Amino acid sequence: MSTTEQNGSGRVLLDYLKCAAVGVRIENIQRSFGDNYVLRGVTLDIEPRETVVILGKSGSGKSVLLRHIIGLECPDSGHIYVAGEDINDPDFKKNHVLAMVFQSSALFNSLTVAENVALYLREHKIFADESRMNEIVSSALEIVGLKGRGDDMPSQISGGMKRRVAAARALVMNPDIILFDEPTAGLDPMMTRTMGDLIRGLNDKVEITQIVVTHDIDLAFYVADRIAILSEGLILEVGTPDQIRSSTNSGVIDFIKPQFE
Ligand SMILES: Nc1ncnc2c1ncn2[C@@H]1O[C@H](COP(=O)(O)OP(=O)(O)OP(=O)(O)O)[C@@H](O)[C@H]1O
Ligand SMILES: [Mg+2]
Repeated sequence: MSTTEQNGSGRVLLDYLKCAAVGVRIENIQRSFGDNYVLRGVTLDIEPRETVVILGKSGSGKSVLLRHIIGLECPDSGHIYVAGEDINDPDFKKNHVLAMVFQSSALFNSLTVAENVALYLREHKIFADESRMNEIVSSALEIVGLKGRGDDMPSQISGGMKRRVAAARALVMNPDIILFDEPTAGLDPMMTRTMGDLIRGLNDKVEITQIVVTHDIDLAFYVADRIAILSEGLILEVGTPDQIRSSTNSGVIDFIKPQFE
């Protein structure tokens, strides 16, 4: 039984999540920093309700790509479409919630863990009823394995725990699309499993679209509907875990081989 299934009150959050079926098209994205050509024409379609893992080595441009998908950065050329709309079009209407779990976690140090998770709900006045809001926040903390840690300050918790708080904070936004940047980096094996179970559980139980970038090959094969290999600024190959495992592309084989020896 997965950790998510064991968590009775994690169910409160799962029942609360109501996601629209939203796909993402990444079309020929190019981005350079000076003469560092990081993204050289990345094209990838992510179907509504799919969990796609973009797998690449450190420095391959995964975080840069995610920042383009959420519109934090503009490409030199190419387009990002969310539900068929170009996000960099001046007429783009933000009809869908995208929530990002940043590699750096980006928590507010002056707020408790629970206050960090509740911030979006408070600012957007999502709940008139404080106790319902607290119930959702507690459930989100429980689902990421941080039950009872709501009163801690960020300075009192580890980097891996901060990442999980960031995941809880993203989930309570009720996103249509959730993006994870290196969700397991710095986590011990048990918490890596918790994070993997969380992503898998969301895929199974909620109609959410998930984009995960990581260099964690085990995680990719554990959670992905499809895996896209990012290398040298391009998507080298995309396919189901079985297709990637049996790929004959030498770049893909070199990348994943150590895992299956
Ligand atoms: N704002 C920036 N200015 C200049 N160069 C940048 C900037 N952001 C990223 N880069 C460069 O882009 C490349 C890709 O960076 P990115 O952070 O996307 O890698 P990554 O695949 O996420 O790596 P990691 O697995 O270590 O997180 C690196 O060479 C990095 O130095
Ligand atoms: Mg990164």
